[in-house]
Amino acid sequence: MQVIILPSAHDVALFAADRVVDVINTKTNPVLGLATGSTPIALYKELVARYQSRQVSFRHTISFNLDEYIGIADSHQQSYRTFMNQHLFESIDIVATNTYVPLAESQNADTLKKSAQDYEVSIQQAGGIDLQILGIGLNGHIGFNEPTSSFASRTRIKTLSESTVAANKRFFKEGEYQPHLALTMGIGTILESKSVLLMATGKAKAEAVKAMVEGPLSAMCPASALQLHELATIVLDEEAASLL
Ligand code: GLP
Repeated sequence: MQVIILPSAHDVALFAADRVVDVINTKTNPVLGLATGSTPIALYKELVARYQSRQVSFRHTISFNLDEYIGIADSHQQSYRTFMNQHLFESIDIVATNTYVPLAESQNADTLKKSAQDYEVSIQQAGGIDLQILGIGLNGHIGFNEPTSSFASRTRIKTLSESTVAANKRFFKEGEYQPHLALTMGIGTILESKSVLLMATGKAKAEAVKAMVEGPLSAMCPASALQLHELATIVLDEEAASLL
């Protein structure tokens, strides 16, 4: 695990953008793993700027997002598909059919299980993920792998912890249905990525970052599994690194 501490959140986004562009420019058919949440928004802004200034093209890129809420339509304002369309896909030249986000609108368990299995197959067929971008939850989750997730877990249904539901409440309108379930890549799926880049910014993430980097390998801090990955980079601003 390589830990890089930079002065500001902006520097973290620039560092991550360099890594993404590097993968795209060195692979014939680059496969990116993408994340949602507020942290990677600055990265996506930077990638759009680099696309607009012709420094990178996403024409041959395939992408797989980490997770999606169960039971809301793709077109829902708070779906992770909508998030990705709005923050990245609609502003770059990626082929829409090459952008994968778990299909999780159904509330039927068998349909969701099949969708999870198909997702794993699609990742394999694409040749595996070259670079997986990650954020980290306040409780140390990656994707929606909440504390107690197995390090061997694959794409599956997860119940969100109370603290995650509370943290994501800000995105939903008063009285609006907020999903408590998600379809997420597993920790085992994430660890199979050829390289991983986890971004964390702000003081609120300092405890989770400390547990991930300095704590024991523990299912109670899912991100600590990244200690097992040979090519995991953790890029932090000074606030997120403040307890290291
Ligand atoms: C969500 C996502 C994660 C993300 C985390 C942190 O729950 N499923 O992939 O890393 O929240 O989000 P933020 O960057 O907004 O703090």
